[in-house]
Amino acid sequence: MCGIIGCIGHGEKTAEVILDGLDTLEYRGYDSAGIALAGDAIDVEKAEGRLERLRDRIASQSTPLTGPLGIGHTRWSTHGPPTDANAHPHTDEANRVAVVHNGIIENYQTLRDDLEAAGVSFTSETDTEVVPHLFASYLTEESDPAAAFRRTLEDIDGSYAIAAVVAGDDRIFATRNDSPLVLGLGDDRYYLASDVPAFLEYTREVVYLNDGDVAIIDPDGYHVTQQDGTPVERSSSTVTWSADQTGKSGYDHFMLKEIHEQPTALRQGLSGRLDELSGTVTVEELAAVQPPEAVQFVARGTSYHAALYGSELFRAAGVPAQAFLASEYATGPAPVPDDGLVVGVTQSGETADTLSALREAAGRGADTLAVTNVVGSTAARECDHILYIRSGPEIGVAATKTFTSQLTALNLLVEELTPNAREMRDLVTALRDLPGDIQQVLDETTVDAVVDEYVGSEAFFFIGRGYQYPVALEGALKFKEITYEHAEGFAAGELKHGPLALVTDQTPVFAVVTGTDERARKTIGNVKEVEARGAPVVAVTDGQSDVARYADHVLEIPETHPRTAPMLANVQLQLVAYRMASELERAIDKPRNLAKSVTVE
Ligand code: F6R
Repeated sequence: MCGIIGCIGHGEKTAEVILDGLDTLEYRGYDSAGIALAGDAIDVEKAEGRLERLRDRIASQSTPLTGPLGIGHTRWSTHGPPTDANAHPHTDEANRVAVVHNGIIENYQTLRDDLEAAGVSFTSETDTEVVPHLFASYLTEESDPAAAFRRTLEDIDGSYAIAAVVAGDDRIFATRNDSPLVLGLGDDRYYLASDVPAFLEYTREVVYLNDGDVAIIDPDGYHVTQQDGTPVERSSSTVTWSADQTGKSGYDHFMLKEIHEQPTALRQGLSGRLDELSGTVTVEELAAVQPPEAVQFVARGTSYHAALYGSELFRAAGVPAQAFLASEYATGPAPVPDDGLVVGVTQSGETADTLSALREAAGRGADTLAVTNVVGSTAARECDHILYIRSGPEIGVAATKTFTSQLTALNLLVEELTPNAREMRDLVTALRDLPGDIQQVLDETTVDAVVDEYVGSEAFFFIGRGYQYPVALEGALKFKEITYEHAEGFAAGELKHGPLALVTDQTPVFAVVTGTDERARKTIGNVKEVEARGAPVVAVTDGQSDVARYADHVLEIPETHPRTAPMLANVQLQLVAYRMASELERAIDKPRNLAKSVTVE
């Protein structure tokens, strides 16, 4: 996820403060960085790649980068690859305005078309660049840049945190909507950042901005208004975390932070892709993909579980589909269907097995599509088509938010490619509500009681059926990889064919049961079987069926569409795994023997 820092006041060495802030935001992940200092004119320096490149460029300038105020940015690509030109800050043609932005401007294409028609030249492929051009155009009409800034915000839709500076004006203009932004109140300086660690070295006094707030900061103070200029009060608070939690926003681990980031990650992934009025899905980057006769998925680990779910979605839409473990696909004679599509699901876009399978498929003449999180990754570069899940960087080795984003993106994929799919309107509503529903699970979960009761058990089993089968597999994978305890996931109907021999009163069974259909009823039958053998049962359920009657504990999720229930159930299982690993004092963010990206076969 991109990082923003701004700094204004009476101190010196503005550029150093901003660059140090960017260093501290490195953990968010980035592929380019930049800085703008403003005085009578605006000086911008930016560079693709690591921050050292930006520092080297600044150091090699004949005149030092100076100015009493400035903004900086680390960019994680969403629109356009990581290049110098696409790095932030972005400016207008006359270099009067510089802007940094996190998030996505949904209506940027329309705005860009209008600006280009009016004669404005763009220098990047980003959605962000419309902002400085709009801001500059309003500066010619408004005597106060603050009014021009507000008019700019009226034009843009999407999720964003924005900071801007104007040549000859000693203020920073900032706003947020669905993307974090916080002010830091120092002794002789004010700071602005997407995360507190960026200025923690200078102050612990912070003001968290709300969505829709516009903050205008000058060297001696700040004021916050709504977008229409109505003043609002935002009180300050004192950050108490220790330095070693820096980068985790107060969470003990990146994994927990990323679990809690899921509502934001999903909003970002859905932004501009759902039309609630017409109840339809439109994913621009998939416009050139032909509706396939059949679909094959290739993936590994957590992404394979997402692929299983994706294949079920396509089958439900009437398209033959199958998920392959990528290592088996590359070495086996998997037939490529005529007019078929081979989809690689890979968070990193660098998993060796998945890349091999995709190359194998391409070699056999198949159309390939990468569903990935990393812009410019190998999978993104090599496949014919790309669907970005837009989850933001994931630091914890165990995939959490990216799995949820993958399932969500796969729903978009199937709706885009099988436009006659039934129930699209209900699905669109459920997807729109999903971030809020996940927040509810995060706020109301009762996993602590479950973990307290079952820590020390011999083994842990996870069962589910249909869309919840991949969730059972994923629940078990997450659990084993970070707790180091024995955990297995099964298709609920498979229990009687062997695994039931393992079930005892020392093996809690997590049963995911949502809805009231045939699958739910059959899974409840399997729950009764394990209960009869003395196993404790934890039901993960939306409460629609009577599974709770047979369960020792219930982990509740809100009622939703059958296709979004897996995301909610999975969040409960992520929290179970996390809390258990925390209880057992495991190395949660870096489990033993595991790496974030597996680049060898
Ligand atoms: C488990 C996990 C791994 C990855 C797998 C594929 O928490 O993260 O199982 O899912 O290594 O990685 P990507 O998605 O990068 O291809």
